[in-house]
Formats: sequence, structure tokens, C-alpha cells
Amino acid sequence: MLIAPSLLSCDFSIFRDEIIRADKAGADLMHLDVMDGHFVPNLTFGAPVIKKLRNATEKPFDVHLMISEPHRYIGDFADAGADIISFHTESDSDIGETLSLIEERGVKPALAIKPGTSPDVVLPYLDRLYMVLVMTVEPGFGGQSFMPDMMEKVTFLRKEIEERGLDTLIEVDGGIAKSTIATAAKAGVDICVAGTAVFGEPDAKEAIDTLKSLCE
Ligand code: DX5
Ligand code: ZN
Repeated sequence: MLIAPSLLSCDFSIFRDEIIRADKAGADLMHLDVMDGHFVPNLTFGAPVIKKLRNATEKPFDVHLMISEPHRYIGDFADAGADIISFHTESDSDIGETLSLIEERGVKPALAIKPGTSPDVVLPYLDRLYMVLVMTVEPGFGGQSFMPDMMEKVTFLRKEIEERGLDTLIEVDGGIAKSTIATAAKAGVDICVAGTAVFGEPDAKEAIDTLKSLCE
């Protein structure tokens, strides 16, 4: 299991140090939650902040866009150094065109789906995707409870990926903790985002090691 600590739960007054802390603790990717106060009822940070933080680590930047009209900002996030860009199928941009913008920039494309969205919507694009992000909470805030029902989507997508012979990764985001990560692992998840479960713990390395060990 790969662990992507969500910086949403870090101490933003020492953002760079928190990335370095997560890196040293064994994070596989850095999950960066971009919120616009419109697509979700919360605001975080944008491309200029990510650009300034890019050289804090060599770990991949997994940028999760929870914004309206994501197609307008793909260039900015690519310039900022995003390695993976996820955007929501529920946002108002054309999905195929937005994926093309990401592909043209050489960034790995991913589609994210909210809890109420059927995984069917990603099927027409699955062959083009580096990753599918299945939300296991309503997007907007850290510290919410994991929705186990979402594992049906993971099982469904895993089967479809295998049948097509793809290597598309499945990421889950929201409520991942010691008590829930084994459920995600069993369903066939490749990457778990974890905010509170990493940054809310006194020892981030121990937290990540424990989460990984629970998937074995
Ligand atoms: C929620 C964000 C998540 C969030 C997860 O909209 O996409 O990445 O930070 O936080 P936890 O792990 O605390 O549920
Ligand atoms: Zn996220």
C-alpha cells in the first residue's frame, strides 16, 4: 500500500517543514488538496503555493483539484510541478478535453469521484487514466468518517482495470485510519490518502509504518 499524506491536515504556518517531515516519515506521495470555496465549501491554496513548495521534496506531488472549471488551471498546476492531477467528474469542465490538457503537459491524469457518483462515469476514460480517486468522504474537509460502502466502487473498478489489462491505480481519500485501512486494502486500493491519521499523530513515521503494516 502506498501512503499519500494529505497536507490539508498539516500546520500551514510551517508548510515546507511539514512536507519534509512527511518525506522523512516515509510518505510515498504528497497529497495536495486544492479547494476553491465554490466546488467545495472550503478554501485552501493554489498553484503559486505549490510551486514554491515543489523543491521541498523529490516525492511526487499528487494534486487533488476540488475546483470548478479545472480546465482553466491545468497549465498553472503543471507549471507548479504537479506529477499527478486529479479533477472531479462532477466539475463543469469537459472531461475528455481536460484530460487532454493534462496529457499534453506530460502530467499523469486522474479522475476523482464524489461519494454520490457512480464509477460508471470514469469507464469511457479508464484507458487514459493513471489513477482513479474514489472519495470515501464528501470532499471539503479532513477528519471525517470513512464510508465503507465506497469499497463496492473500488471492487468494481479493480475488476474493470484487470479485465482491460490496464495498470491504472486506485486511490481512496477520506477517513483512512488504523481502523479502516485494511478494508481499503482488501478491496484492492493501491494508494491511501491520510490526513489526520498522519499529521494528527505525534510520530508521523510510526503512523505511516503502522498504516502500511495493517495492509499486509
Ligand atoms: C477531503 C480531502 C482529503 C482530506 C483527508 O476533501 O480531499 O484529502 O484531507 O483527510 P482525512 O485523512 O483526515 O480524512
Ligand atoms: Zn484529497
